[in-house]
Order: sequence, then C-alpha cells, then structure tokens
Amino acid sequence: MDSLLIRGGTPLHGEVTVSGAKNAVLPILAATLLTAERCVIRRVPRLSDVTFMVQILRSLGAEVAMEGNTITVESPQIKGVGDYDLIRKMRGSICILGPLLGRLREASVSLPGGCVIGLRPVDLHLKGLRALGTSIEVRNGNIVAKAPDLRGAEIFLGGRSGPTVLGTANVMMAAVLAEGVTIIESAACEPEVTDLAVFLNAMGARITGAGSPTITIQGVSKLHGAEHEVIPDRIEAATFAIAAAVTNGEITIKGARAEHLGAVLDKLREAGVSIERKGTSLIVKRAGKLRPVDITTMPYSGFPTDAQAQMMVLMAVTEGTSIITERIFEGRFMHVPELARLGTDIAIEGPSAIVKGGKPLSGAPIMASDLRASAALVIAGMVAEGETVVNRIYHLDRGYENIDEKLRGLGAQIERVAER
Ligand code: EPU
Repeated sequence: MDSLLIRGGTPLHGEVTVSGAKNAVLPILAATLLTAERCVIRRVPRLSDVTFMVQILRSLGAEVAMEGNTITVESPQIKGVGDYDLIRKMRGSICILGPLLGRLREASVSLPGGCVIGLRPVDLHLKGLRALGTSIEVRNGNIVAKAPDLRGAEIFLGGRSGPTVLGTANVMMAAVLAEGVTIIESAACEPEVTDLAVFLNAMGARITGAGSPTITIQGVSKLHGAEHEVIPDRIEAATFAIAAAVTNGEITIKGARAEHLGAVLDKLREAGVSIERKGTSLIVKRAGKLRPVDITTMPYSGFPTDAQAQMMVLMAVTEGTSIITERIFEGRFMHVPELARLGTDIAIEGPSAIVKGGKPLSGAPIMASDLRASAALVIAGMVAEGETVVNRIYHLDRGYENIDEKLRGLGAQIERVAER
C-alpha cells in the first residue's frame, strides 16, 4: 500500500488543470449500458473508481476500450446480473441498476455496503424504481428487480437529508426507456445529474428540467450511441482552491466551472480568500488575514459535503472559532481525530464540529479514512511543520487524478512511498 510523504511549509504556486468529474463519469459510464451502440466518453479522469466501473461494465458483457482520457463502450449484448463482489465494493456501482432495468427489464445487483461516512441506504432508489412498476426483492444481499411493464410515474424522491444524487440518476436512467412520462419531484440538482441528462439526451432521451427539483422524462423506445465530454470536477477544483488558501500560495486553476462552485467560492471569499475569474480559470490567493466562517453542508446549490473536510483544514489554520455542520452524511468527521494528531483543536458536538483555529500544526503519521478526508489530511500536511505521512491513500486514488503529481507541479514537497 502507498503512503504520501509530505514536507510542509511550501506555499502552492503555479497552474493546475481540473480533471473530469468522478461523480459525473460514474453514472455516465453506467448509462452507456442503455444502448447496444457505441458511446465515446471524453475527459474521463483516470481514477481507481473509474477502473472499477469499467470492470463492472465488462463483467456485464460490455466491450470497453480506454485510451488516455477517453473511454469507448459498446454493449451489443449484456446480462442483467452483476458480479456480487465487484459491485458491493463501490457505492457508485448502484447506478447500474437503473440502466439494466431500462434496457433488460430485469436486474440483480448487490446492495452497496455502508461506508465510513454514514449509513448510505438505497431506500429512495428502490422507492423510485418501484413507482415505475418494478417489483423489487432483496435476496441474499442482492437487489432483484423485475419490470416487465416499466411505465412512467410521478415520483417524489426527497429523503431525510434532502434529494439523492445517485437515486435521481438511477430513476432517470430507468425512466428514459419506460412507457410514458415520468416526473421526478425533489430531484437532486447537482451538476453531475445535469451532465448525465445531457448525455442521455444526446443518446436520444427526452429529459427536461435536469438541474432543477422537477425533472420530466418522456420515455422513448430506444436509445442510440453518443459522444460526450464530462464536466470538470468541481470538488477537485474546490480542493485546490482551499489548498492554495491554506498554504498561503497563489494558484491558477484551469478548466474550472465557477458556476458550479458558487457556495464554495462564496465561503472562501467570506473567509478572506480572493478569487478572480478569468475565462475558465480561477486565480486563488489570500486577500489578507483569514477570518473564521460557519459552514453547513447542504444539497446543491448549498455548500457540498464533499468539500467539508478540506474546508475544515482552512478553518483550523484561521484564528478564531468556526462551526462546521454536516447535514448530508452523519458520520463524515473521520478526519477530525487524524487532524488532531497534527495539533488541531476541533470538538464534535452532534452534527457540528467546533474548530478553534490558529494553533500551529506539526507533522505526524496519519491515516486516510475516506476520499475527501484524505484530501483534507494532505492539505493539512502541506501546512504542518516537518514531515507528515498520510497512510492508506488508495482512498485518494479513488477520486483525484494524479493528485500527488499535480501538487508537485504546484511546488508541494510530496512523494509517494511504500507504507511504512
Ligand atoms: N439517502 C437516503 N436514501 C437513499 C439514498 C440516499 O436516505 O436511498 C440519504 C443519504 O444517506 C444521505 C443523503 O440521502 O444522507 C444524500 O445522499 P445521496 O444519495 O445524494 O448520495 P450518493 O448519491 O450516494 C453522491 C456522491 C457522493 C456525494 C453525495 C452527496 C457519487 C458516486 N457519490 O452520493 O460523493 O457525497 O452524492 O453530494 O456520485 C465523494 O465523491 O466523496 C462522495 C461521497
């Protein structure tokens, strides 16, 4: 297993280019199963989660070619039974359920496991698919779904913590080939959902309203092949912006879509970070002394849960008290005890973390627990005095393309070493 060895204290400087969005490409790859024809997906980030999804597609019978950042998928014939062990490892694999149902009218897909950031149930996915006329049983850890008469319906998809991103994607992907009209109310508005709808429409689907809480899908009988370029990863862009502010550097983030980053940029500005937009580039640096800010994670267009851990590091180096409240995933504070090893003062009270910032940080061996927590630990390591070793960075490779290489390009002293 690899670790990252970081020598802290170097401000980030220079230019970095954002890769394609992990959370957009995973459902888009799943959507290629909806047609027998060839689909070409560009700006695909090289991530272990993507490799994983490709393995899943192949295990279902798809022919997949990967070249650089382009993936071509052709699925003349597929089967509806997913490989149990393959699928249960990655949460994102649940989004093959909708396309399999749409195309084959039946599917058996293993239940995705819970994970360290929270329970992550799939009740809303199942509720939505049932509303489309699917009979669903959970048997031996598998979701066994049959939909001989898949038909449009009005579906309310809001849950305890708001809408569901992959649930919306799943229902949308089944509904595109259902008979009649489907209206999803309280749909997730995340840009990744919109990107999926753009791809599905390029395949011949008839979807309107994606990006708003009401999505209307007029079912069609068949989809065809299409080409698509994945949107840039807003969370990767946010991670670099926060890293620049934490290390007191100045960087240009190229290929970012500022319109997808509203809440993050707003909070960064409130915290005393200057963000200048130049075309599709963002120039990020501190505007003066940092100020504490309170943050509550929310569904889009609110502050994203996927940038919460990184933002906590910014607050940890900012003098004063900030309160960070996590409203999407109940267990998403695994980075807090690891950050404490570097000298932070953060207390957890219910869904909130109280960050008493401004304490000096010093390097230590720490352990990554999930993807975004890992990113936060790396950022903290870059500002801590001395050496920090972040272990278990396979989490990081799931969702950040060449992150160590990109950070080195910005001047960070960071290298990949074998875990000690
Ligand atoms: N929820 C339910 N029932 C469901 C589905 C979700 O109660 O059937 C709850 C969840 O427990 C959570 C909330 O609804 O409290 C929102 O979860 P959502 O379904 O939106 O999450 P997801 O679709 O499983 C995607 C991203 C996550 C990101 C969330 C929220 C992918 C592959 N994953 O997950 O990304 O945090 O949306 O924006 O798209 C990450 O990239 O690090 C990551 C975890």
